[in-house]
Amino acid sequence: MTWSPTSWRTRPVRQMPAYPDPAALSAVGERLTEMPPLIFAHEARSLKADLARVTQGQAFLLQGGDCAESFAGFHATAIRDTVRVLLQMAAALSYAAGTPVVKVTRMAGQFAKPRSSDTETVGGVTLPSYRGDIINDAAFVEASRVPDPERMARAYNQSAITLNLLRGLTQGGFADLNLVRQWNQDLIENPPIGARYMDMCQRIEESLAFMSACGLDTMRTPALRGTTLYTSHEALLLPYEEALTHQDAATGEWYGCSGHFLWIGDRTRQADHAHVEFLRGVANPLAMKCGPSLMADDLLRLLDILNPNNQPGRMTLIVRMGADGLGEGLPPLIQAIQREGRSVGWCCDPMHGNTISTQSGRKTRPFDLISREVRTFFDVHAAEGTHAGGLHLEMTGKQVTECIGGSGGLDEAGLAECYETTCDPRLNRSQALDLAFVAADAIRSVRWRPTKLAAE
Ligand code: PEP
Ligand code: CO
Repeated sequence: MTWSPTSWRTRPVRQMPAYPDPAALSAVGERLTEMPPLIFAHEARSLKADLARVTQGQAFLLQGGDCAESFAGFHATAIRDTVRVLLQMAAALSYAAGTPVVKVTRMAGQFAKPRSSDTETVGGVTLPSYRGDIINDAAFVEASRVPDPERMARAYNQSAITLNLLRGLTQGGFADLNLVRQWNQDLIENPPIGARYMDMCQRIEESLAFMSACGLDTMRTPALRGTTLYTSHEALLLPYEEALTHQDAATGEWYGCSGHFLWIGDRTRQADHAHVEFLRGVANPLAMKCGPSLMADDLLRLLDILNPNNQPGRMTLIVRMGADGLGEGLPPLIQAIQREGRSVGWCCDPMHGNTISTQSGRKTRPFDLISREVRTFFDVHAAEGTHAGGLHLEMTGKQVTECIGGSGGLDEAGLAECYETTCDPRLNRSQALDLAFVAADAIRSVRWRPTKLAAE
């Protein structure tokens, strides 16, 4: 079946805002098509090669960032702090796994949000739901909730600036492994995790010193001096994605140039619908969220559509079933994939299946449930002989108070202190590092058990 960047338009579509002025929407789309791509085809190809290593059990994926980027929360310090925590987590994971960590941000495009209801009612007033800053405004006022296509242009500009910063941070010396101790910032205020992190820094420094002593010049080794951070987001707002889709002159393939790694959300993965149609035609590495309602047969059918050639690195499955659902829900999916010989990377999102409401009506996520889902993910993969390949997190480098628990012992009463998210609750920087150590311990406990894939 022929595909084009617009062929999704002939399919039923969910989670799409109703723009009041279609002509204005088209005009913004045309302007964006003329703009430079945000990412380049060769970068998406190198991520695909990195993710193929995850598929084969030779690397680990760490994907994290805000639930939703916002216009108001756009600051260099916020981005730098989140990057710093991602680097710290990656160091902990890589050190435990003895393999590279593929680092991917939920940034530079993660603006549009699927909602469980089209409307929101507060005090008897019903308005359209907030769908992310790329679509409308969170303020509970009628005019703010009207979808405005100009917001796509603003999101594009913010994404371009964010990418510029990410490229500078990762190549400009900030990510130098020789400075691992300096990423430590104020972790000292968090004694159990701070001590564990400092201990790890010392071991890394000893390893680097040993490599230098063996004649390897660590200061001149690019892999130690800098790193690569890829970008990802849910490819939800299809007019935006379509406008940023370009054909690669070298290969003739189409790429979604809004981000390196594009995923399909749990609410928009219907095989005959618009989001699957759009994503099947772009050559980027893709991910798909796998919630509790996904059955093995549907998964195989979706893989037939999205990865007909079974290319390694093309598909990552981000499983988000909740701490209580994963133990039962994940094995049948893994078994179907193994039986059919499909090549996929497995990644754990322990956030979206563990959201609860407090008595005061705030959304939160208990750290205990999040870490239990991560441990179950590793246990299930160890039992099936497959590679628990990655983590997908909503997190920030700021010390927000949105999730409860963790080594800081945040309780429900403490949530009000710094609750900033416009969407889902994020791990703060100490909780994010806590979780990296939970995963590092799980990795260590299975590290020397060969996986089926590695044995082949
Ligand atoms: C998300 O990752 O922010 C999200 C909405 O996830 P899901 O599609 O898994 O609910
Ligand atoms: Co979310």
